[in-house]
Parts: sequence; structure tokens; C-alpha cells
Amino acid sequence: MDKLVISGPTRLKGEVTISGAKNAAVAILPATLLIEGVCRIENLPNISDVKMYCKILETLGAKITWLSEHEIEIDSSNISCTQASIDLTSKFRASYYLLGSLLGRCGQAEVGLPGGCNLGARPIDQHIKAFEALGAKVEVAQGKITAKVKRLIGTSIYMDIVSVGATINAILAAVLADGTTTIDNAAKEPHIVDVANFLNTMGADIRGAGTDVIKINGVKKLHGNTSYSVVPDQIEAGTFMLAAVASKGDITIKNCIPEHLDCITAKIVEIGGTVEDYGDSIRVYMNKRPTKATVKTLPYPGYPTDLQPQMGVVLSMANGTSMIHESIWESRFQYTAELNKMGAKITAQGKSAVFEGVSELTGAPIYATDLRAGAALIIAGIVAHGDTQLYNIDHIDRGYENIEEKFRKLGANIQRVVE
Ligand code: EPU
Repeated sequence: MDKLVISGPTRLKGEVTISGAKNAAVAILPATLLIEGVCRIENLPNISDVKMYCKILETLGAKITWLSEHEIEIDSSNISCTQASIDLTSKFRASYYLLGSLLGRCGQAEVGLPGGCNLGARPIDQHIKAFEALGAKVEVAQGKITAKVKRLIGTSIYMDIVSVGATINAILAAVLADGTTTIDNAAKEPHIVDVANFLNTMGADIRGAGTDVIKINGVKKLHGNTSYSVVPDQIEAGTFMLAAVASKGDITIKNCIPEHLDCITAKIVEIGGTVEDYGDSIRVYMNKRPTKATVKTLPYPGYPTDLQPQMGVVLSMANGTSMIHESIWESRFQYTAELNKMGAKITAQGKSAVFEGVSELTGAPIYATDLRAGAALIIAGIVAHGDTQLYNIDHIDRGYENIEEKFRKLGANIQRVVE
């Protein structure tokens, strides 16, 4: 198992280029199953979740050609199988998108119950509700979900909860359905807009993505022969913004969309940092200890849960006592126990945590408890005095491309040790 060895403290300085968005890529890849033909996807992040998805698509009959490290061609002309390997699909969360795609394309799907980061209960009742509303019969048994339908029929779907995954899955299932589907109380994250843009480029008719009402007029077929570039990763960009603040550094973040980061920018300014917007890049710098703050995670455009642990590292060293309320996931404060090993003073209970700011962290052996926690703990290692060994970094490799290389270019003393 690999580990990262980090020696700090370092003030991060320089430029970093953001990769394509993980959470858009893991929805666009299964969406290619809806296309009877060939399409090209550019700006794919080189991460293990993308590689895993490509492996699964191949087992279903798609032909994948890697054109470069970040660009692939997928030929989904012949989909020979609608039963995805339970072993592979149960390893990560986004495998649930195979349900919407295979149902839309073939009228049937079998997928292992999704795995992924342990963030507490991760129900999929809203996905099932959407498929059933469109006419499918859905069964959950023996660790897998099976869905079947003769013809998907457009309908109105009201989401009881704002869910990224259920919104995208409902779109995937509705694209080739007969008639019009309306999704009310839809999620509005940038990757939802990106999936809709991808499908529209391939011939779908989806309107309103990015608002809470999405309308999908079913089309007979999606054509291929088109290329699409994945949107820059909002969460990776936010991770480096917060790394700049935590390390009292100065980072220019290239290839990002500043308006996707508005609420992070606002929080950084509130705690004393500076953010300059250059259209497709931003510069973030900080030269003092952050002030205390209160943060509540919310669906987009609110403060994202996927940047909560990174903000936790910043607030663990703020001047005064801060508070974070996590309103999306039940169990996203496991990283606080690791930060406390480094001298932080955090009390987490249920969905809230109190951060009594300390003036410095010290290096320690620590464990990445999930993907975003892992990124946050790298930042903690960079700003801490002394050496940190970070274990369980396969979580981080699932969603961040070349993360230690990117931090090294910013001046961090960080090495991957293969054990
Ligand atoms: N929920 C339900 N029922 C459902 C679906 C969701 O109750 O059928 C609840 C969840 O339990 C949660 C809330 O609704 O409390 C929001 O969940 P959502 O469905 O939006 O999450 P997701 O689609 O499973 C995606 C990202 C997560 C990110 C969340 C929230 C992907 C592959 N994953 O998950 O990303 O935290 O949206 O923004 O897109 C990550 O990248 O580290 C990560 C965990």
C-alpha cells in the first residue's frame, strides 16, 4: 500500500492546472452507452475511478481507444450485455449511472449496489423513484439492483431530496424515453450542466440544467461522431484555493471556472484571504492567520460538502472558535480525529463540529478516511511542523490526478513511498 510522506511547513506558491471534473467524467462515461456510435471525450481526469469506469464499459461491449492520457474514443454501437460486474460496480458510487444509461439504451440493467467513500448512509430511493415513474420495474436483492422496462414513458418527477446522482440518473433514463420528462427540485451542480451539455451535443433535447426544473424531450436516437471536453473540476480547484489559504501561500489556479467557486471565494474573503478572478484562472493568497467562521454545507450553489474537510483544516488553525455544520452526509467528520492527532482541537458530534483554532499543527502518522478527507490531510501535512505519513491514499487516487506532483510544483516537500 502506498503512503505519502510530507515534511512541513511550506508556504505554497506558484501555478497549478486543474484537471477535468471527476464527478462529471463518471457520469459522462456511462452516458456514452446511450449513443449508437462513436464519440470522443477530452479533458478526462487521469484518476482510478475513470479507469474503473472504462473497464466496466468494455465488459458491456463498448470499444474504448485511448488517444492520449486525457482523451478517449468510445464506440457503443454494440452493447452486448446489460449485467454489469457486481464485483466492479460495488466498488464505487458512480456505478449507479449504469442503471439510467442501460435502461435508456436497452430497457434493462443489473448493477451491484454502489460502494464508494464511507460517508454514512447513502440511499438511492430517489433514483428508484425516478426509474419507476418512467415505467420501469426495479428490484433490490442479493446486493444488486435490477431494472426492466418495455418502453420508458416521459413523465413528471418530483425529487423529495436535492440529489446530484438521482437528477443525473433521471436525465439518463429520460433522454431516449417517449415524450417529455420534467424533473422538479433537481440538483444544480456544474457537473449536471456538463452531463446535459454532453448529451445535447450528441443530439439530446435537455433544457433547464443548472436550474431546479429540468425538461427532457425524448429523442429517438443519439448520434456520435462528436467530441466533448469535460468541465474543469470545481472541487479540485477549491482544494487548491483552500491549500493557498491554509499554507499562507499564493497560488494561481489555471483552467477553472471562477463562478463555480463563488461561495468558496466568499468564505475565503470572509476569513481574510484575497481572491483575484482572471476569467479562466484565479489567484488566491493569504498572509495572516485566518479568522474564525461558521460554515454550513449545502447543495450547489451553497458551500459544497466535498470541500468541507479542506475548510476544516483551515479553520483548525483559525484565530478563534469556528463551527462547521455538515448537512449532506451523516459521517463526514472522521478526518477530525486524524487532525486532532496533529494537535488540532476539534470536537465533532453528529453532523456538527467545533474547531477551537490552534496556532500550528505538528506532523503525525495519519489515515485518509475518504477521498476529500485525504486531500484535506495532505494540506494539513504541508502546513504542519515536522513529518507526516499519510496512509490509505488509494482513496485520494480515486479522484485527484497526480496530486502529489501538483503540490510538489507548488513547493511542497511530498513523496509517494511504495510499500
Ligand atoms: N439521498 C437520498 N436518496 C437518494 C439520493 C440521495 O436520501 O436517492 C441523500 C443522500 O443520502 C445525501 C443527499 O441526498 O444526504 C445528497 O446526495 P446526492 O445524491 O446528491 O449525492 P451523490 O450523487 O451520491 C454526489 C457526489 C459526491 C458529493 C454529493 C453531494 C458523485 C459521484 N458523487 O454524490 O461526491 O458529495 O454528490 O454534492 O457525483 C466526492 O466526490 O468525494 C463525493 C462524495
